[in-house]
Amino acid sequence: MTAPLIDPFARPISYLRVSVTDRCDFRCVYCMAENMTFLPKKELLTLEELDRMCSTFIRLGVEKLRITGGEPLVRKGIMTFFQAMSRHLDAGTLRELTLTTNGSQLRRFAKDLVECGVRRVNISLDTLDDRKFADITRWGRLAQVLDGIDAAQTAGLRVKINAVALKGFNEDELFTMVEWCGQRDMDLTFIEVMPMGDLGNEDRLDQYWPLSDLRARLAERFTLTDLDERSGGPARYVRLDETGQKIGFITPLTHNFCESCNRVRLTCTGELYMCLGQEDMADLRAPLRASADDAALEQAIRRAISHKPKGHDFDYSRQKVDGQMTRHMSHTGG
Ligand code: GTP
Ligand code: 5AD
Ligand code: SF4
Repeated sequence: MTAPLIDPFARPISYLRVSVTDRCDFRCVYCMAENMTFLPKKELLTLEELDRMCSTFIRLGVEKLRITGGEPLVRKGIMTFFQAMSRHLDAGTLRELTLTTNGSQLRRFAKDLVECGVRRVNISLDTLDDRKFADITRWGRLAQVLDGIDAAQTAGLRVKINAVALKGFNEDELFTMVEWCGQRDMDLTFIEVMPMGDLGNEDRLDQYWPLSDLRARLAERFTLTDLDERSGGPARYVRLDETGQKIGFITPLTHNFCESCNRVRLTCTGELYMCLGQEDMADLRAPLRASADDAALEQAIRRAISHKPKGHDFDYSRQKVDGQMTRHMSHTGG
């Protein structure tokens, strides 16, 4: 039997996040620069190469595959890739095939995703206000995303909304968003903004809204019960007793969750990043392209994971930002 992937801190690696494109039809201010330079097409792994890469990880024990970008649904032919991955669900070697999306293309693809075995999607949405949505995504239209959410739910997909918590931006929408998600039977997860990409004139320290504070505000109106359940990702959940809703918190800054990390990230050019908040990476494209046999690729994956760092260095304390990454979030897919 193949030995599972275990990192130097005895953490089994069972979750692979795969960025299938660095492109996106939005330009969220905390994720991308407005005039991003995108990679030339020849640099990207082909869909066949992505298939080989993911299948190798699955053979090595990965059970959860999350497709990200950029915006994964803008990659040409992406449904062919989802279709190919569904064979691992059928075989029982993959437990979950899912994606994180901005929702803009879901009207077109929701049904196809369901047919490929996708059961739930995470949709990024930070505000329910048209004008604020246009401001934060620079290029996005809220109506299109809301329509995508409708399409996803109609197709039978379970939806989780991801909202980045931003001081002075969506603080005032906390209860509106909770109520809106509750009415639609969608889970809601808040994320602390991470210091990545070029901060430009956006001051991330000013925007940082610790989720400990958000949680305290929720507790003024609701009774919160901590839940033990995990989704295999970094979120910790509470239940609002009055409504029965589940609210998630992703707190890389206030409550580091690295000790239970189970994931690595593959970029669209075949680099394997061992941690979102560290530069350690290994090129897997070279061994993949060097031979049609997967032995060298497997070896490169094992070697990379044997160097997975303990955790990230993000920190907004002492009134300054430490551990800032110049790499954009879109590069590794969050
Ligand atoms: P579930 O399967 O629903 O638990 O999803 P997930 O939280 O694993 O994935 P999603 O793409 O929704 O991620 C939400 C946010 O969590 C993104 O902003 C990610 O960047 C962040 N995130 C995921 N994994 C890590 C991690 O290992 N470290 C840090 N710092 N952030 C992470
Ligand atoms: N900090 C926190 N979350 C971010 N995302 C993108 N950039 C950042 C950042 N700097 C989120 C998106 C999406 C997920 C993949 O990552 O909103 O929900
Ligand atoms: Fe696109 Fe998501 Fe980045 Fe926004 S956060 S620019 S939707 S990849």
